[in-house]
Amino acid sequence: MPILTTQENTDKSVSTEEGGKTAVQLRSVTKTYTNGYDALLDVSIEIKQGEFLFITGPSGSGKSTLLKLLYGEELPTQGEVIVDEFNVAALRGDRLSSLRRRIGIVFQDYKLIPQRTVAENVTFVLQAQGFTRKEIQRRLEPTLKLVGLLSKADRFPDQLSGGEQQRVSIARAIVGTPPLLLADEPTGNLDPDNSWQVMQILQKLNSFGATVIVTTHDEQLVRRCNQPVVQVRNGRLYRK
Ligand SMILES: Nc1ncnc2c1ncn2[C@@H]1O[C@H](COP(=O)(O)OP(=O)(O)O)[C@@H](O)[C@H]1O
Ligand SMILES: [Mg+2]
Repeated sequence: MPILTTQENTDKSVSTEEGGKTAVQLRSVTKTYTNGYDALLDVSIEIKQGEFLFITGPSGSGKSTLLKLLYGEELPTQGEVIVDEFNVAALRGDRLSSLRRRIGIVFQDYKLIPQRTVAENVTFVLQAQGFTRKEIQRRLEPTLKLVGLLSKADRFPDQLSGGEQQRVSIARAIVGTPPLLLADEPTGNLDPDNSWQVMQILQKLNSFGATVIVTTHDEQLVRRCNQPVVQVRNGRLYRK
């Protein structure tokens, strides 16, 4: 269970799991956008390596902002964001790129390249990172197998269902075996069956050792998965 210092218990951090290395930590983080809007207010949480965490909350509550801070898309206005022992805000250039390579990201809208096949969508990042052709081939097959798309490697995104497209985007996120996987409303565009399938895959990756953080406003799905949950409301974090 993540260690969460909420506004309800500001003096004590609560943990049910002792030890373990910290994967992600927010220390009194406030994020104020340039328009003066406070998306997150004095948020503190620590997530250990290998944990699974759901972040729920209504639309506009600050879920995406929290994930963006973790992969350095946004910087905290106050407080510190630590990922893999690094202060994200202090990283520039190569060191930020290197941290980002250790984070897999899945978005609600898949963000696949329409003119490229499933296999190409999954591997183009590895190519850009200079992996050898042999290493790319070695990684591709088990990754597609894991998401159930081995037989569709040569299809294009518009020849796939929404659920399949999302599974391609998960394959792309994990093919480099990142220790941290962030999924921002990964089931937002999917029906219940496909949503369940996606959650099963994310939980399987967690069982293989990845730290997995998933935002969603689907309370029913969260209950069904029986994993730790925190809720964002009006920029503050609460234990569910
Ligand atoms: N770039 C931005 N500039 C100004 N306000 C923003 C920006 N991004 C998000 N917000 C605001 O911050 C709040 C939280 O947004 P977000 O983190 O996207 O919420 P969620 O993902 O929970 O729907 C919202 O009120 C949103 O309008
Ligand atoms: Mg969002």
